[in-house]
Amino acid sequence: MSHVAYVNGRYTPHREAVVSIDDRATQFADAAYEVTCVWSGRPVDHAGHMTRLARSLSELSIAMPMSPAALTVICRELVSRNRVNRGIIYIQVSRGIAPRAHAFPARVKPSVIVTARGGAGPSDAVAEMGVKVTTAEDIRWKRRDIKATGLLPNVLARQAASAAKAYESLLVTPDGVVTEASASNAWMVAADGSLITHPTGNDILAGITRATILKLAREAGIPVTERAFTLKEALAAREMFLSGTTTFVMPVVQIGETTIANGAPGSVARDLRERYAAYVAQQTSTDAAWNV
Ligand code: PDD
Repeated sequence: MSHVAYVNGRYTPHREAVVSIDDRATQFADAAYEVTCVWSGRPVDHAGHMTRLARSLSELSIAMPMSPAALTVICRELVSRNRVNRGIIYIQVSRGIAPRAHAFPARVKPSVIVTARGGAGPSDAVAEMGVKVTTAEDIRWKRRDIKATGLLPNVLARQAASAAKAYESLLVTPDGVVTEASASNAWMVAADGSLITHPTGNDILAGITRATILKLAREAGIPVTERAFTLKEALAAREMFLSGTTTFVMPVVQIGETTIANGAPGSVARDLRERYAAYVAQQTSTDAAWNV
């Protein structure tokens, strides 16, 4: 079966899907994107991803190219045509196509790319063991709340993790704060059992998975504090874990050469991973998952 993509109003074989060399995404990374997990052929927290896309675009003064409902029709069509059971939907909206010049072009129509593909999601086997992460300096711009496609610092950090055979890379500011990771949010459990994660704002991406986990943790009566924490605190944490669309909840058992606690996934991370899996299974059990 050949894969189908959506580009600017047309469904086209993935291999033939192309954008203009004058698309501002290619020259300026002048674009925002979303990645949504597909489970049982339905999206996870779809409405949240749509809302964040609209917000990212609004912060960049890019017009939302169509209504969330119309974009949902495309997502649904691609999940169906590509027979995605477990995988991801990728949506990218750029400012559009115009001769290269930094300032916004006068008349321009946003470009839209949507793809859906099956593929390795979060592995339970990996989560059972927990993962190693590395650290990298957080050299990104100051608007990390916008899910923009300019991801070079994230790419470099993740490549450094890959080279060290690590799952992810924690991003650390010059004053030692762990903001998040290259493509996931970071969490720690302190000695008193409270859950800590960086507050939203301009310094991190407000993860959709992060928001759901906060809700699940509060429902479970786990004390939660949204505050910045340092790498020093993380190294001495009772538990550490990551969250994200393609990560779910992933226990971290090693940071660089330092083993976290006893080197096994902690009970809070394990519990939240199970709660999140149940939440995903429940939400994707009906077509209401597509509601926006
Ligand atoms: N990344 N922080 C960063 C920098 C991210 O890129 C991501 C997601 C997250 C987690 O957000 P969410 O829970 O909404 O997926 C946090 C996606 C998966 C990506 O770029 O592929």
